[in-house]
Amino acid sequence: MKVRREVRNREVYLPPVSTYRWWARRTEAVSGSIIDAVSVDRPGRMVVSDPFAGGGVIPLAAVMRGHSVYAQDLNPWAAQGLASMLALPDPEALREGIAALTQRVLTSAQAAYGTVLTNGTPALVSHTFRVAVAPCTACGLGRRIFPHALVSLTSRVERNLPEAFLACPNGHLFKGRRDMVAACSTCGELTDPARAYTPRRVITCPCGHQDRLQDRARATGLTWEVVLVERAGGGRRELSLPTSGELAAAEAMHLDPRMQLGAIPEGQETAVLRRHGFRSWEDLYPRRQRAMVEKLLELASSCSPDADVVAALKLAIIGSTEMAGHLSRWDRYYLKSYESMAGHRFNFTTLPVEPNAWGTTTSGRGTTLRRVVQLIKSAEWLKERTGGGLQIAGPLAASAPMVPALLGQDVDGQSLERPDVLVVVGSSQRQLLPTGSVDLVLTDPPYHDDVQYGELSQPLQAWAGLTSAESGGDAVVNRATGQLVAAGSYTALLASIFRESARLLRDAGHLIFSYANRDPQAWAQLLEALQSAGLRAVGCTIVHSENETDHAKRNVRACTLDLLLDLVPLSGIAVAKHRPTVGDTAEEKFLGIIAEYVLAVGELDTNWQKEFLEATSSAEFLQPRRARRSNGLDTS
Ligand SMILES: C[S@@+](CC[C@H](N)C(=O)[O-])C[C@H]1O[C@@H](n2cnc3c(N)ncnc32)[C@H](O)[C@@H]1O
Ligand SMILES: [Zn+2]
Ligand SMILES: [Zn+2]
Repeated sequence: MKVRREVRNREVYLPPVSTYRWWARRTEAVSGSIIDAVSVDRPGRMVVSDPFAGGGVIPLAAVMRGHSVYAQDLNPWAAQGLASMLALPDPEALREGIAALTQRVLTSAQAAYGTVLTNGTPALVSHTFRVAVAPCTACGLGRRIFPHALVSLTSRVERNLPEAFLACPNGHLFKGRRDMVAACSTCGELTDPARAYTPRRVITCPCGHQDRLQDRARATGLTWEVVLVERAGGGRRELSLPTSGELAAAEAMHLDPRMQLGAIPEGQETAVLRRHGFRSWEDLYPRRQRAMVEKLLELASSCSPDADVVAALKLAIIGSTEMAGHLSRWDRYYLKSYESMAGHRFNFTTLPVEPNAWGTTTSGRGTTLRRVVQLIKSAEWLKERTGGGLQIAGPLAASAPMVPALLGQDVDGQSLERPDVLVVVGSSQRQLLPTGSVDLVLTDPPYHDDVQYGELSQPLQAWAGLTSAESGGDAVVNRATGQLVAAGSYTALLASIFRESARLLRDAGHLIFSYANRDPQAWAQLLEALQSAGLRAVGCTIVHSENETDHAKRNVRACTLDLLLDLVPLSGIAVAKHRPTVGDTAEEKFLGIIAEYVLAVGELDTNWQKEFLEATSSAEFLQPRRARRSNGLDTS
């Protein structure tokens, strides 16, 4: 139950995770109880290592309990974010830095977003809506391409008011009602608020020709026209057609953003961007947003003498760029915008909203302002639990020399600065600790091809000026780039990481991780990797998935349960195996079959894969996709 609660309300349970975006983060509940269980046998300070540290939940769970941590991830944004999260400065110093930034940003924010509400109250523009325009590839008629006739309610749906902005079939915007067909105030055309104009990203021209949006994008490119703004001021917010002043501010022709963020490479998730004409990462951002982010970063540099404060402020500013003004979708019922990489995908819409990069107090998710407030909460939370002043070293490159002594322990009387946490960036095929120096490896490897961390984090990485992850070594299968698609390559990479992770283990140390996948092949490769890394399974448990909501969003691999695998090096002493209790749902039965093979890791014979694939292929859990679709549950 605790897991479920935490999954739903992560930022309250574990505030520091809001410091930097990562995908498919785990909860602290399961990791925490594993650490607690292991420390019963190993009282005192342990060294816990996580070679796939990602969003940093496992390192966080360990430092909260007073243990030392070795954390490594291939991805520079993850490694940097993790180090900054654990190094969050003292809340008081942070507050001062934030106060300084708030003062300094006033003039620029006013110039970029200043406006007044209809009733004259001073306000800031909180959201700016743009619509795509591109001509029909047959007749050349260019229209605004609204996705739906109902563009937005004018107040949140729970207020039950009918007023809404509607778009007529000819692309004019007017005020109407959500529940009534109305004539357009510009052209008189009847507009049904229930209508969708771009089902399956296909648009029908009045000439009768149908274009895919991507074909129009390829033919002429999409241009963006500002059509609507949301203003926030005096505790109120209002949606309105833009004034000429607001239009000029949105175009921001006088601003001159300079940062180049690099080309968008081909990939599984980037394909949707490239198809619709985005070529470099800065294309995802309107000029004003780019200029404001650059301005904020420049201002932040001089807001505190404390480098950790400046780093935290910059992380908040860069975090705001996940609301990219050319990608973020507007929730027309709840009146809020969505991250451009929500649901583990890059979003594409013909009606994106640009956030106010600094933020207003009344409206706007994920803005810098929201994030700095969250930073203070995180810093307070961390200080309460760790006493503050954790010593964080890194990120060190994985190619750096080995660290000669253990974290938090003297070795051979060496006087080494002893960090509580060492963060390393680079593939965990090479780790920087000496053999036999870790009490527990607790980790969470990528689930085969489920989440393309590397692709999704690229815009954030680019803003942070972090060089892209080293090529090679990414343990995520990617069919678009061919990464790890070759037979045996995923297995070989995982095996070398597990072998290296096991090298770090002390006598009787365990390597524990959870895994979920619907694809028996992914499991087969994982088990093969574990066995060839010289590991032996000693236990297996079915646990409630910590990624339930993420999986549901992504809607592909609907796993609600994970298997928790417990392994030791083959060379260790034999211990009794712990078998899982298997319930009678289809998913549990499927995992029950897998668990039998998991428990045989260390003694799997040469023919095991064939037998395993036969045993799993008939599992009921793998059959239900069609049934689900007809239930209306699968709405992708
Ligand atoms: C499932 S995620 C870890 C999530 C983390 N436990 C959390 O709660 O946020 C897997 C991680 O493995 C990383 N990764 C992929 N290949 C790697 C490699 N060769 N070495 C180290 N990390 C790698 C990815 O960048 C990703 O962050
Ligand atoms: Zn046409
Ligand atoms: Zn019209």
